[in-house]
Amino acid sequence: MRILIVYMSHTGTVRDCVDLLKKELNSHEVDLCDLSERVLLPEGYDAVVLGGYIHSGKLPPELAQYLKSFEEALLKTRLGLFLCCGFTDRSDEYFIKNFQKSLRDHAFAVMPLGGRLRSSDAKSILDKLIIWYMRSNISRSEDHLEGEFRRVLPGILPDQIGLLAQKLKASVQEPVREPD
Ligand SMILES: Cc1cc2nc3c(=O)[nH]c(=O)nc-3n(C[C@H](O)[C@H](O)[C@H](O)COP(=O)(O)O)c2cc1C
Repeated sequence: MRILIVYMSHTGTVRDCVDLLKKELNSHEVDLCDLSERVLLPEGYDAVVLGGYIHSGKLPPELAQYLKSFEEALLKTRLGLFLCCGFTDRSDEYFIKNFQKSLRDHAFAVMPLGGRLRSSDAKSILDKLIIWYMRSNISRSEDHLEGEFRRVLPGILPDQIGLLAQKLKASVQEPVREPD
């Protein structure tokens, strides 16, 4: 099986998730497409997995453009979608805002893979400030929450990555779902 993973990473979390996913798929031929370096087209692959980081509620523009430009081709292949973010409890909202409904409905998986908020990863003063602000926002919200649910600092979710790999392998047993 030939698989294409298209992604964008700013501070390394998405890249680490992609590396873990690639390891899970070690018996398959996997091409990585970091959109900050090159563009590979979806055609010719048995499956495409696509995802990236969230900044200010949005996917990076390169990924948004890829989704727009290649929507038709993506609807003709097996498709997995993922994202990494700091406020992991907002993942559903981010998926709805950033991925076309047609693609979400078509995908065999639409999955958050976690995220990281480490100031040591920051690439600029602005990154550092935002990461600091987001971390303090999460800690503050914990002080005010009662009951069982508490917002926690995010991390990469290896179980989710394993599940994404499983769903990908299962999807290849099925014919590609044609859009309605
Ligand atoms: C400048 C900046 C803006 C961010 N904006 C958001 C945001 O709006 N919502 C969110 O949930 N996480 C946000 N994050 C957290 C990132 O999505 C999270 O750190 C993710 O793991 C980054 O992936 P990457 O390391 O591959 O770039 C932001 C992080 C930075 C540095």
